[in-house]
Amino acid sequence: MTAAGAAPKLVLVVACALVDADGRVLITQRPEGKALAGLWEFPGGKLEPGERPEQALIRELAEELGIAVEEPCLAPLTFASHAYEAFHLLMPLYVCRRWTGVVQGLEGQATRWVRPERLRDFPMPPADEPLIAHLIDLL
Ligand code: C5P
Repeated sequence: MTAAGAAPKLVLVVACALVDADGRVLITQRPEGKALAGLWEFPGGKLEPGERPEQALIRELAEELGIAVEEPCLAPLTFASHAYEAFHLLMPLYVCRRWTGVVQGLEGQATRWVRPERLRDFPMPPADEPLIAHLIDLL
């Protein structure tokens, strides 16, 4: 709870649905030791000060998965907006079908390519769950 009139802390995260040639979407599993460990999410991460969402995503995808994405290949799809107890998360979701390199979980995270209609079989953070319907509609 925040005091009456106090603005909740806003956390800005950006996420990406990587879509392969078979129309499958990449999800990654949050590792032990992190908040929401074990849950599956669309890869991405927090914006650093001064970054635009696309820049943050390109950086995160290189750091976490070892792939290179060019900015024109990032198509904005929707936003997640979720009120967690401690903060409000705002998270744009992009879709990307072109990258170079081979996806690897460079931070020890498990990775899975999943058909959009199977995404609900994987437990996700509450902010991510509403994004699935948008991906099913798109793909
Ligand atoms: O990934 P990171 O821990 O930096 O993200 C900060 C917070 O944002 C997480 O603790 C989680 O509550 C939320 N988050 C989320 N869905 C994601 C990524 C982060 O709900 N895909």
